Amino acid sequence: MLKALCWKPARNVKLNLHGGRHISNRAEGLSPSPATGEDEGSEKNSRQVRAAARRRVCVPVLEHFDKFYSEQLRHRWPAVREILLHPQSWQYGVMLNRFAALEEVKEQLHIQGFSSLLPHCQGSLQCFVHRSPVRFPSQRHQAGQLKQYYLLNAASLLPVLALDVNKGDRVLDLCAAPGGKALAIFQCATPGGLHCNELDIHRHKWLMKTLESFIPQSLSDVVKVSNLDGRLFGKIEAGAYDKVLVDAPCSNDRSWLFLGQPQQGHLRLGERAKLPGLQKDLLRSALEAVVPGGLVVYSTCTLSHAENSDVIQDILSSCPNVELEDLDDLALSLAHHFTFDANTRFGLLVVPDHGRTWGPMFVSKLKKIR
Ligand SMILES: C[S@@+](CC[C@H](N)C(=O)[O-])C[C@H]1O[C@@H](n2cnc3c(N)ncnc32)[C@H](O)[C@@H]1O
Repeated sequence: MLKALCWKPARNVKLNLHGGRHISNRAEGLSPSPATGEDEGSEKNSRQVRAAARRRVCVPVLEHFDKFYSEQLRHRWPAVREILLHPQSWQYGVMLNRFAALEEVKEQLHIQGFSSLLPHCQGSLQCFVHRSPVRFPSQRHQAGQLKQYYLLNAASLLPVLALDVNKGDRVLDLCAAPGGKALAIFQCATPGGLHCNELDIHRHKWLMKTLESFIPQSLSDVVKVSNLDGRLFGKIEAGAYDKVLVDAPCSNDRSWLFLGQPQQGHLRLGERAKLPGLQKDLLRSALEAVVPGGLVVYSTCTLSHAENSDVIQDILSSCPNVELEDLDDLALSLAHHFTFDANTRFGLLVVPDHGRTWGPMFVSKLKKIR
């Protein structure tokens, strides 16, 4: 169930990247999904994928997906279903950390047959992928050392590429934990400021840890972390940003399939109908938080049209000062890596496919024209 969201005025904190005490206030929100389908540059990730492979499929969720996605995706659904049900087939991207020494890692990637996802360099963002579900080992945190890479579903980079952050941009990552996209933003360019916000207190701590492990202390002035309800930003920080990323809480299709007990599946499915309301509120808040001419990228990791195209359609029809931005060039530049659903409107939807298991990932880009 969606809990009532109660917010106490939180102290926004400057990120103390290496040592020192971090202060944050508590806030309540959606309980975090198990991280099975989430990006995470830690040991935990491989363990969770192995655990998911052993865990039983949650039957009520699978039945629900069969009903809705066979209608929505038609001939594509059997292949997507097969991939979602087999975590061993999932591929991982290796996003390099430009702030760490990388020669040895690059050599290892080359030896193991990884190749660059982005041959035409997007700033300094570098991500390596393999045709097979080869797992590059995850890195442990070592005090005083920055991690060299972050493992992720390569489709997670699409929202960041769509945001197109340039040096000096004031950027807000409204729903930021565990922090994969915030790191990707930093790989593209050094923004003038990056404000990472996360409502859930446990995930907020996880976000802090991720940032500490990848971003050098010399950039700590650029990063701010907060623990607020993202729906407040339109009011408290109206017009403060050039670009906002809304990587929204959604029904994470990969992890929901492995929720375990049927009761948990029923509970989550009951929440599902409430998600589009929350997603639209977050998106409206983001649109208020950008300057006129500013850009907002909305993304989810679900195949559900109700949480993707329908959300954008609703915003476009209710906000006359908002226009949809074209993502055709981005889709074209990555067409040999990702399978895009041809029937998705108002954005791009990456659907898992054989040999390119990336996704699900929906991305849409909006411009506030006045
Ligand atoms: C899809 S995840 C974000 C993943 C993250 N962008 C990344 O790349 O690592 C969505 C996040 O939104 C958070 N969330 C849920 N409701 C929220 C709200 N009202 N305001 C801010 N964050 C919220 C969830 O706790 C969750 O961590």
